[in-house]
Amino acid sequence: MKEITKYRNNRILCIGAGYVGGPTMAVIAEKCSDCIVTVVDINKERIDEWNSDKLPIYEPGLDEIVKKVRGKNLFFSTDVENGILDNDIIFVAVNTPTKTFGKGAGMAANLQYWEIIARQLRDVADKPKIIVEKSTLPVKTAEAMERVLNDKDKFEILSNPEFLAEGTAVNDLHYPDRVLIGSRETKNGLEARKVIVDIYANWVPSEKIITTNTFSSELSKLVANGFLAQRVSSINSISAVCEATEADISEIASAIGSDSRIGSKFLNSSIGFGGSCFKKDILNLVYICKSYGLHEVADYWESVIKINEYQQNRFVANILNSMFNTIAGRKICIFGAAFKANTDDTRESPSINIAKMLIEEKAKLVISDPKALKNIEFDLKHYKSKIDYINDPYEAALESHAIAILTEWDLYKNLDYQKIFETMIKPAFIFDGRNILDHKKLFKIGFNVFPIGKKAMLHYN
Ligand code: UDX
Ligand code: ADP
Repeated sequence: MKEITKYRNNRILCIGAGYVGGPTMAVIAEKCSDCIVTVVDINKERIDEWNSDKLPIYEPGLDEIVKKVRGKNLFFSTDVENGILDNDIIFVAVNTPTKTFGKGAGMAANLQYWEIIARQLRDVADKPKIIVEKSTLPVKTAEAMERVLNDKDKFEILSNPEFLAEGTAVNDLHYPDRVLIGSRETKNGLEARKVIVDIYANWVPSEKIITTNTFSSELSKLVANGFLAQRVSSINSISAVCEATEADISEIASAIGSDSRIGSKFLNSSIGFGGSCFKKDILNLVYICKSYGLHEVADYWESVIKINEYQQNRFVANILNSMFNTIAGRKICIFGAAFKANTDDTRESPSINIAKMLIEEKAKLVISDPKALKNIEFDLKHYKSKIDYINDPYEAALESHAIAILTEWDLYKNLDYQKIFETMIKPAFIFDGRNILDHKKLFKIGFNVFPIGKKAMLHYN
């Protein structure tokens, strides 16, 4: 039963219609049928796509939900100002990239988008509003925004970080491990907190809704991503040891993962983590630590990023070494541009760096991906003449010297590699940057096979 508050709790606005705002609001609209949910964005093209049959992002299961609720209780618009006037509960899910200039460049979050919104809220809002931080933000952003808004009685700023992972966003939103809501622990803060808790209580069991003070909530988001990224870097660092010693990384992951204190998830060795969150959040954490003089802590977290870069460099060095130290003029086919499977997102994708390094070595590149070609073509626009983009993997691999698997799409597990082998230049190489293929079978076909963290299988020597 919803309590009466000074806020109209049957209307929700979200500013920012990206990978976070879009799916989150679609699920809130789906689960809170008595709520009108409006998503606004300054990017008209994006809003037009949200209103069309072809959504601006690929996320399994999202199309069906949007089709069900759009035009009923979910609306997409570019009218930010009226959105602010018509709604008292305002989620903010705008992008917060890493700063590329000035103090904290390359580390701190660029809050300019957030600040524009804070000023717009200050100028437009005519009554009390709850502002919910959905984007990942540095600790104490709420406090900084309070200063911009300059009216503690009118604006209550809460932190409700997003934990959805791309590719499984719908499931993560339907069945979250937890929902975290941070607020001030004052009378007004607790009232606003209750309003947001009630929204999630429509489908999330109460024991999974965690409430904290604002700073703990803001910091928890950075720490959660830091811990996850640290697991990937830890297993990747061990993959290098495996390659040197003939131990097998999958056997190690399974042996250590069966310890319930360690757990089996997030132990897949790879060409490194990508995505819009991990690196940005760790850099943010590093910046916060440095600004409080906690240099040892900053160095610790920075090493997680260093190992990630090392892993990508190592992968390319391995290609180079095993292909007789030159790949100039040789055709290398990359399978996978997205930073992980089941998304079209290429932000911070290892494929970008790896492609650049291979081009530096003067390789001829072909990139294939079932969903992310448009995005990677944009990321690599300066290398236009040096890369072909081909959707069909068989066509992409035609007459290539090597295939590098960079994204763990199911599609790549089920290809006819015998057929592919026959069309490739010999000796044919396969570098499995995700350890998703049957390496013994590939070797039998005739490939020279290079997994991550496992013994290579070679026909020459
Ligand atoms: C992450 C967090 O999981 C999510 O909670 C947060 O809200 C946003 O950041 P996301 O970036 O979408 O989500 O993907 P995630 O599944 O966490 O993977 C991140 C990267 O790590 C990917 O590049 C993935 O391929 C890589 N990864 C993950 C590995 O290399 N090995 C693993 O075992 C797991
Ligand atoms: P995320 O992965 O965090 O969702 P995205 O880049 O996918 O990041 O989405 C953020 C969205 O926020 C973009 O569509 C961008 O146009 C939008 N945005 C940025 N600034 C504003 C603003 N001042 N008002 C409305 N929308 C904004």
